[in-house]
Amino acid sequence: MKPSPDTCASEFAHAMQQALTETPRRISPKWFYDAEGSRLFDAICELPEYYPTRTELGLLDRHANDIARRLGPGVELVEFGAGSLRKVRLLLEALERPAGLLPIDISAEHLHASAAQLQRDRPGLAVRPLAADFTQDLVLPPAHGPRVGFFPGSSIGNFEPDEARRLLQRMAGWLDGGLLVGVDLVKEPDLLHAAYNDAQGVTARFNRNLLVRANSELGADFELNRWAHSAFYHPALQRIEMHLVSRSDQVVHLCGHAIPVAEGDSVHTENSYKYTVAGFQRLARQAGFAPEAVWVDARRWFALHWLKPAEGQAL
Ligand code: AVI
Repeated sequence: MKPSPDTCASEFAHAMQQALTETPRRISPKWFYDAEGSRLFDAICELPEYYPTRTELGLLDRHANDIARRLGPGVELVEFGAGSLRKVRLLLEALERPAGLLPIDISAEHLHASAAQLQRDRPGLAVRPLAADFTQDLVLPPAHGPRVGFFPGSSIGNFEPDEARRLLQRMAGWLDGGLLVGVDLVKEPDLLHAAYNDAQGVTARFNRNLLVRANSELGADFELNRWAHSAFYHPALQRIEMHLVSRSDQVVHLCGHAIPVAEGDSVHTENSYKYTVAGFQRLARQAGFAPEAVWVDARRWFALHWLKPAEGQAL
């Protein structure tokens, strides 16, 4: 398929070209999430090795009443990176008279399908989905109550710590009620390794879906079997790194460019930072939040932090 000039001027085309030609070769993980990428991510969440989803759901379930009491009555929830809305349903069940839900996600199709289902299940709740990239400038519609953010899944870990701080700072400006944020904890590297190198190869497919997406949206000619999935823990940086590594010398065609790639060249597709409780609280304070509570599972694998806007924080 020959891509249109418009397609090749897109932000995604630009990001892919940079990922193959600049040093270091890297791309934001946000490009994983087309409809298929979102579906694959949902499949990852069901994997036996991928503990974060189950552990966070367990925390939400076990501490629902305490969490709801802290968040307060009549709040409007804003979910960042909403996806399938499975976790926010638990929260909505526990909250007293929630005023509404504003789910935000970059993957429009997936978001609208999940929001429509939730609206059918809870006809009395004002569900106002927003298909947007919350890392970019974003204007939220007028609030329907004290605004509380919900940022589950440790998606905050997919940002560099500096970016994470800036993002939390922007969130502090949007949320007068506070922020409930899920954060994966630093742990035994073998557990982390297994979670990002699952036996069924779903994470590998998720990683390679970036190339599938480039082939279908940009008319690129990536040969999937020439790219290996690589994920490993970097203990000094406390992060999982995910890469796509070229298995041979090859030439990739992308939007009129023939780009040579050598065997062993790697494109860095994702970081997933892990934090200690104290380390994340430090970051939150620097962003203008006051850590008020934290819920951690018995194995200390995952933390749910409740952050309030710090005193004197301009809203
Ligand atoms: C969305 N995010 C928090 C996931 C993570 O664990 O960093 C994405 C993911 N990448 C590979 N597996 C899951």
